[in-house]
Amino acid sequence: MSSQKQNRSVTINTLHQMKQQGEKFTCLTAYGYSDAYAVSDCGVEVILVGDSLGMVVQGHDNSLPVTIEDMGYHIECVQRGNQGALLMGDLPFMSFYSEQVSLENAAILMREGAQIVKLEGGAWLAESTRLLTQRGIPVCCHMGLMPQSVNHLGGFRVQGRDPAQAQEIIDEALVLQDAGASVILLECVPAELGARVTEALEVPVIGIGAGPATDGQIMVLHDLLGLYPGRPAKFVKNFLAGNPDGIQGAIRAYVKAVKAGAFPGPEHCYS
Ligand code: KIV
Repeated sequence: MSSQKQNRSVTINTLHQMKQQGEKFTCLTAYGYSDAYAVSDCGVEVILVGDSLGMVVQGHDNSLPVTIEDMGYHIECVQRGNQGALLMGDLPFMSFYSEQVSLENAAILMREGAQIVKLEGGAWLAESTRLLTQRGIPVCCHMGLMPQSVNHLGGFRVQGRDPAQAQEIIDEALVLQDAGASVILLECVPAELGARVTEALEVPVIGIGAGPATDGQIMVLHDLLGLYPGRPAKFVKNFLAGNPDGIQGAIRAYVKAVKAGAFPGPEHCYS
């Protein structure tokens, strides 16, 4: 295996250009050197070091126990394996409860190798988003189902099903775009709302369980490989099952399916 980095660097601008050109992009999570190498080497544009590591790596029931130290450690491992994908790092639970705290913790992740940070929340994040972007830290705001708020939401439930809540998500996404967010991530909303948010925003929208119309798609690597125990969510597809080319074949199949508009299909969407 060569340790030379590929001559390919995805930036925020790449994602913005892809949106303008109507070309879909792909994102996957990774948590260490080898999975980051495989994911980026197979053509995935964005690697997310997600706080989902609390569940798929650490074995917790949710992402709440994950610390900023955990995130820094995994981002450092991932950046060594990354072959030119844009590296997004998650700010974990309670690491961005104020603007100043979000700046200090985002700086930790950027020093470990993140190129953009992700924060879960709506319009209340506008000031932090403005502060971070003004200080040179690109921001992705994670809306819809926000797993760090699982206790407040009463479980991992589809969001934006009633028209007022759907409109609120659109309005708050616009506020965050105005505050400087470079990307919006939308989790677990009806496909129609995914399409409306994508249409309303100039910045790229990444979807997970948000239908086929978003500019990019993201999956947790362990879901794509069928590695996480338990019943998978509706939006999950196991790309390894029946794939003769192993893990790399599964990742390539995911990239191909997203770019062709074949994933997510109607069976992976909420109505
Ligand atoms: O932490 C994570 O992996 C995420 C994805 C589910 C989008 O936030």
